[in-house]
Amino acid sequence: MKQAACILFLVMLAGGLNVSAQKKTIAQRVDSVLRLMTLEEKVGQMNQYNGDWEATGPITKDGDKQNQIRRGMLGSMLNVTGVEHTRQLQQMAMQSRLKIPLLFGQDIIHGYRTTFPIPLAEAASWDIETIRQSARVAGKEAAAAGVHWTFAPMVDIARDPRWGRVMEGAGEDPYLGSLIAAARVKGFQGRHLGDTDAVMACAKHFAAYGAAIGGRDYNSVDMSLRSLWEYYLPPFKAALDAGAATFMNSFNDLNGIPATANSYLLRGVLKGKWKFKGFVVSDWGSVGEMINHGYVKDNYEAARAAAIAGCDMDMESRSYIKNLVTLVKVGKVPLTVVDEAVRRILTKKFEMGLFDDPFRYCNDARAAKEWDNPANLATAKKMAEKSIVLLKNAGGLLPLSRTTKTIALIGPFIKAVRDNLGFWSYEWPDDSSRIVTTWAGVSKKVGDGTTLLYARGCGVTDSSRAGFAGALAAAQNADVVVMQVGEARDMSGEAKSRSSIRLPAVQEDLIKAIQATGKPIVVMINAGRPLIFNWVADNVGAILYTWWLGTTAGDAIADVLFGDYNPSGHLPMSFPRAEGQIPVYYNHFSTGRPAKNDSDLYYVSAYTDLPNDPKFPFGFGLSYTNFSYSDIRLSSAVLRPDQSITATVTVTNTGKMDGEETVQLYIRDLVGSVVRPVRELKGFQQVSLRRGEKKTVSFTIKPDDLRFYNDKLEYKFEPGDFRLYIGGNSRDVREAAFLLKAD
Ligand code: NOJ
Repeated sequence: MKQAACILFLVMLAGGLNVSAQKKTIAQRVDSVLRLMTLEEKVGQMNQYNGDWEATGPITKDGDKQNQIRRGMLGSMLNVTGVEHTRQLQQMAMQSRLKIPLLFGQDIIHGYRTTFPIPLAEAASWDIETIRQSARVAGKEAAAAGVHWTFAPMVDIARDPRWGRVMEGAGEDPYLGSLIAAARVKGFQGRHLGDTDAVMACAKHFAAYGAAIGGRDYNSVDMSLRSLWEYYLPPFKAALDAGAATFMNSFNDLNGIPATANSYLLRGVLKGKWKFKGFVVSDWGSVGEMINHGYVKDNYEAARAAAIAGCDMDMESRSYIKNLVTLVKVGKVPLTVVDEAVRRILTKKFEMGLFDDPFRYCNDARAAKEWDNPANLATAKKMAEKSIVLLKNAGGLLPLSRTTKTIALIGPFIKAVRDNLGFWSYEWPDDSSRIVTTWAGVSKKVGDGTTLLYARGCGVTDSSRAGFAGALAAAQNADVVVMQVGEARDMSGEAKSRSSIRLPAVQEDLIKAIQATGKPIVVMINAGRPLIFNWVADNVGAILYTWWLGTTAGDAIADVLFGDYNPSGHLPMSFPRAEGQIPVYYNHFSTGRPAKNDSDLYYVSAYTDLPNDPKFPFGFGLSYTNFSYSDIRLSSAVLRPDQSITATVTVTNTGKMDGEETVQLYIRDLVGSVVRPVRELKGFQQVSLRRGEKKTVSFTIKPDDLRFYNDKLEYKFEPGDFRLYIGGNSRDVREAAFLLKAD
């Protein structure tokens, strides 16, 4: 009894309940807790279990969790949320010998109570500040619900739309991806880690998970270190520089070594070269899955390999909790490895203020305030509007007039409720009254003079044509038809790779049938990835890419359909013409035999049955107005190592509406010691232009912007000729040339 009281006193001292202890630095406080811990308790801190909220991976049946919490054998739980629930479990942790608080982690990927557009859709806004605000709202809502830590942002560069998780990232470009990664981290973490309206971010999946061979989830990754550094690592570095508190391993092996035990990635790059001070969590079960990879024989070896490589916390594989104590005792894992991991984990718990008050994120008043906060919904609507991409608008079919007499709304998503949410979203019991469907959004928008007709037409994945007749009748009675087709919310996401990314089942046939009526058609496509829809693109009048837009989807869609918001989104990924083209991405190399044009097939690098270029290029997106670009004016055609040059264009709104353009700057290094991409995004600016207005837009180019990784992995620029491109997408650009001169 006496001994227990003494330990409690020491922990209070270390934890800061004593005033003089407040003056200690966090490092000192961590060390004083560490000194009190047994080896078993240390290993417990490196252990994370799934709660019972829901499972986001294969479940291991284990009835002993609560007991383990009370014995201090658990550092963190995932999928536990809500004030009441987190409080209950934290109370159990407070019954443990040292009363070390639990961390509650959760996949808050695109919103918690308020669902935002999926991250790929948000990336299409190219609006970094609004993306930050989106993550800010998600962070606030989650922190108010007892969550300390989100497993986001997912910053994996992805060039393969067959991979279902493209929906979760920012697309194919490392420059745009890096800006978005940093914005999301800042949004989640707020002004200061430890504020009760902020959660810890987690940059994932480290690393190169998006390059799974064949686009099949969890598959191997085989790539040069140059590609890794040039395309896949920059968003992680940006997340780290923005202060990301944690990192998560990826499931894949990278060049034969599973990322979970990849000491090059974890100790060499992340904790070594980049000096990351936070902690690394494995992905769900990924420590144990190294047995399936064929990298280790059993969980004992798995625990050893992952811990030594620098994976600090084991999510759900139980390899650490079952083996690390023994591994340390027999000398196969140095105690310093365990101490370092625990030190990193405890540091974050201190920074989050959990040692001062383990219940500080469990606050009913805050939870109630954030639960249905109208300001959060307003941010979600703004984000949703900015995420929509106008891909085609023949003859100015859009925006629709509010005085249109009869509009037929046809398709499986017009009245769909939960499909608006997307894969990584939470379902709430009152969703059906909260989520704005397209039908509801449009109904609110039109006046009494407009009649709306509805027909579902067909399902998403079933091949019944029974609804075609009703849809045709609705179309025939309408002045204009608005269709909404695409993927259901669970068709893109984790473990949702698809070998065919066409419009599923009979949806394209339904569009063809409606098109045959001769009525003008607007097609909206809901999806978590770039889909292939060539016939639609070539034949219907107008196309809006509407992704999965979240709680306010229908309101945002109605605003865009009727011109209250002029679409401004631009594609963050190239859209292929056929699966056989994949991967198709804009920043590719030239070849020794580049094709001059689509009909040039004479011993050149081309498909004999398909053009090389994508159906819609990276950066593409139309507006209801038009923008024209002047020629580029360069402040100098020569750039010297310690100087900069300025490239300026005048952009004019030549159409009939006010609008916003995303002016994009691309550069090509014509000759390099290693070959360079034909184009690389180096900057962009969003400009609002009133009808008829013109503005000059300038970009400053410094030699540092021209650095790349050479064959020795040195990040350098090389003198020589460069080409510079400015335009509204990666294809339709103005061009200028400059020379980078050595001193
Ligand atoms: C597996 C996913 O790969 C990861 O992104 C997620 O955070 C964890 N499951 C936890 O749900």
